[in-house]
Amino acid sequence: MKAISIPSVRGLLTGGRRVRYAAVSKSASVPALLALLFIAGTAFSVVFLGPFDWPPAIASFLGGEGDDVTRGEWVRDPSLRPYYTNSTCAFIEDYQNCMKHGRPSLEFLRWRWRPAHGDDLPRFDAARFLTLLRGKSVLFVGDSLASSHVRSLVCTLAQVAPAPARMESLLGGFQRWTFPAHDVSVSFFWTPFQVRWRLTRGPDDAVGPDRQGEVFAGPTDLHLDEADARWITAVPNHDVVVISASHWFARPAVYYRAGRAVGCHQACDGDNNNLTAMKPWQAQREAFRTVLRTLAGTEGFKGAMILRTVAPTHYENGGWFDGGECTATEPATDPDEDPVEMAEPEAEFYKAQVEEFRAAEAESPRRMRLMDVTGMMLRRPDGHPDRYGHGPGQHEGFNIDCLHWCLPGPIDVWNELLMKILTDS
Ligand SMILES: *[C@@H]1O[C@H](CO)[C@@H](O)[C@H](O)[C@H]1NC(C)=O
Ligand SMILES: *[C@@H]1O[C@H](CO)[C@@H](O)[C@H](O)[C@H]1NC(C)=O
Repeated sequence: MKAISIPSVRGLLTGGRRVRYAAVSKSASVPALLALLFIAGTAFSVVFLGPFDWPPAIASFLGGEGDDVTRGEWVRDPSLRPYYTNSTCAFIEDYQNCMKHGRPSLEFLRWRWRPAHGDDLPRFDAARFLTLLRGKSVLFVGDSLASSHVRSLVCTLAQVAPAPARMESLLGGFQRWTFPAHDVSVSFFWTPFQVRWRLTRGPDDAVGPDRQGEVFAGPTDLHLDEADARWITAVPNHDVVVISASHWFARPAVYYRAGRAVGCHQACDGDNNNLTAMKPWQAQREAFRTVLRTLAGTEGFKGAMILRTVAPTHYENGGWFDGGECTATEPATDPDEDPVEMAEPEAEFYKAQVEEFRAAEAESPRRMRLMDVTGMMLRRPDGHPDRYGHGPGQHEGFNIDCLHWCLPGPIDVWNELLMKILTDS
C-alpha cells in the first residue's frame, strides 16, 4: 500500500459550503479525497472458495425480508465500550485515528443505535461472524469510506481471532485480510466510481491507464455504461460483495456512453463545450445502474450483494478547504427540534442509490440488500475526526475532516447492520 501525498488539493476539487449540517445549501458537500491507494504489492492469488454451502442463517437471508432497522435514534449508553481501540488494532489508518491524535473526549463512543421498531441491534459478535462466514470471503468495493468500513470490520474481528490477522496488498489493487483459523477473508478494492474511469489531467506521472487515481487531480473520464473490470472480474471469487460510492461523483468529469463523450460536469470547457452538462447524481445513477445490472448478471457469483448508501458529511461554516468544521460533541437526537437534512448532492446521491437499488432488486432474482446507513449517519455530526485526523502540523489532505469517521466510532455500527443483513430470516 502506498499513501500518496496530494499536490495542491485545494485547487483540484470542487467543494461547497454548508452553514449547518441541518441546512440545505445549494452547493454543499465535498468530494472525497484523502484516499489511500492500494497498489500492487505481492503476487495476486485468487482465493477459490469451492462449492457454496451457506449456513442456514445466511441461506434464509438470501431469500428473506428483514425489518428496517435503519430508522431510529442514537441513545446514550454509558456502559458501552468500543469494539477495539487505537491500542488494540493496528489497522486504523492514521487519518481516522482520533484516539491517537488526542480527541479530548471519547464520550462519542457511548451511543447505541436504537431502531424505531423492533429489537435493538445486537452488539456485533465477532466470533459468531467468523463462524458464520467460515470458508467465505467478503469483498468491499468503494472509496476511502469503504476502506474505513473494512478497517472497522477487520479491527473488530481481530479482537477474537486466535491468530493475528494479516494485511496483504495483492496485485491488481486488492487488499486482503485473512483469518486463518476460520478460513475467512476480507478484501478491499479502492474505486471511487465503481465504473471504468481515468484521470485526464494531473501531474504527468500520475495520468495514464495504469496510474488511475493516484492523485486527486481532475477531471475524470467516466464510462457510465462499463463496470470497472478491475474488480468486477474478481467478484465470482467472493461470497459477499459490498459496494458503495458517492462523494467523488461531485468532481469535474466527462461522461462517456459506448466509448463516446456524451456529457460533462464542471469540465465543459474547451473541447467539451458542446457536450451536455449533466448533474453528478445523474451520472451516479447511471453508474449504479450499470454496476447493479452487471453484478446481477455475473456468472459464477452466487453470493450476496449489498449496497451501502451515502454517509453524509457534516461541514458547518464552510467546506473542507476553507475552514468548515464539525465540532458537535453529541449526535443529533431530536429530529423535531433540529431537522436533519442533507445537502443537495448527498440527498440526490442517496435518492439515486435507493431508486436504482429498488429497480435492480425488482428485476433480479439475485440476493441483494440495501445497507441504508444514511439516516443514522446523518445524525452523527460528532463522529468525524474534525481536527483529530492528524497530529499537529502533519496533515496532507484534510486539515479539518468532517467527511471520514473516527475509528473506533459510529461506523462500527455498520458491522452490526452487516451481521443483521447476513443473518436475518
Ligand atoms: C492511543 O490513544 C491514547 C490516547 O487516547 C494515547 O495516549 C496512546 O498513545 C495511543 N496509542 C497508540 C498506540 O497510538
Ligand atoms: C462538437 O464540436 C466539435 C468541434 O469542436 C465538432 O467537431 C463536433 O462535431 C461537435 N459535436 C457535436 C455533437 O455537435
